[in-house]
Amino acid sequence: MSINETDQTITDWPDSGSEVSTLPVARLIYASESLVQESVLDEMRRIRDHALANNGPQGIRVALLFMSGWFVEWMEGPEGAVQALVERVAQDPRHRGLKVIHRSVGRPRLFRPWIGSIVQTPERSDAFGLRVFEQLDRFEAGQVADPASVWLALCSPAVTDMPAPLGQYPRIMLLSARGARVFELVTWLARVQGQPLVRRRFAGGVDDAPDVESDYLDLPAHGRRGLRLIANARKGLAMGMTHAFLPDYAAVAVLFDKDAVANQRIVDRVLSACRQVHHVPTIVGLGTHEELTNDLMEQVERQGLAWRAARTRTAEPDLADYWTALHPVLDRLD
Ligand SMILES: Cc1cc2nc3c(=O)[nH]c(=O)nc-3n(C[C@H](O)[C@H](O)[C@H](O)COP(=O)(O)O)c2cc1C
Repeated sequence: MSINETDQTITDWPDSGSEVSTLPVARLIYASESLVQESVLDEMRRIRDHALANNGPQGIRVALLFMSGWFVEWMEGPEGAVQALVERVAQDPRHRGLKVIHRSVGRPRLFRPWIGSIVQTPERSDAFGLRVFEQLDRFEAGQVADPASVWLALCSPAVTDMPAPLGQYPRIMLLSARGARVFELVTWLARVQGQPLVRRRFAGGVDDAPDVESDYLDLPAHGRRGLRLIANARKGLAMGMTHAFLPDYAAVAVLFDKDAVANQRIVDRVLSACRQVHHVPTIVGLGTHEELTNDLMEQVERQGLAWRAARTRTAEPDLADYWTALHPVLDRLD
């Protein structure tokens, strides 16, 4: 398996002193076409250096993504500072045609002065551009959306006809306590359900984590609203983007292992991430009878999160056994 699933990166949270307040901030998202000819990674690093120097003192936090030849930047902070930044960035010769596609005031979602990622995808820039114009039309027509759903509509669109509109179908994060079994699970499920699997690799070097894979699969026939399963690498828990989107997950399903130490470690990391973003998703424990211990359940419940056990019927489960255990539990979340 190509996924490098080591545990070298421990979730690296900002110091508690730099935790973001929940007071409302101005939020803005724009999209622009990149004019960068050489290495995008190098250019992102240069932009990061400016952003780190400028954004922090201005109380601004941004997430910048490069995908399919487009930049998408989500800014949060004091209204005047956000406006001044977007006006300055609009003059930058490294991109053109900057279009503001979202403005709102609300709870902050970005927890660092800078989050950068490069999504590696075969999608062409004109296909991406169509979504930008769709979002622009909605914005100009006065349709109000939250920034996370605008971002998702652009960067992680539903690949099939989901019954519920974007942002309204449950999203479930899948994590393996050890190895990369959740990636195998979504790959297998995509095949048996005849649905496309979207593979995403986020380039390292511009964020706080090295290369991270995140694959997603939409299941439109699941429940009333459809369901998105997102397999995440453990080290993805250290990424600012994961923190920003954690509040959108209805549940985090953890595929446990025979190794109790690995199980404890992943529970610690998930609980720590949820504490930091003040989110209380349901935690689904997926594994065998022996792996899903009362102790793990109690730790989850002590933090105020609901625990659901998805127990496999056999002690040596294969991928089909995991899905048989998991999907009724996900049904009941709807
Ligand atoms: C796509 C893109 C995003 C950028 N985002 C930021 C940002 O968040 N903060 C920032 O200070 N500069 C950002 N820049 C760089 C600015 O356009 C500008 O080069 C820089 O702020 C100038 O900084 P200086 O006044 O310190 O020289 C961005 C540039 C591009 C092309």
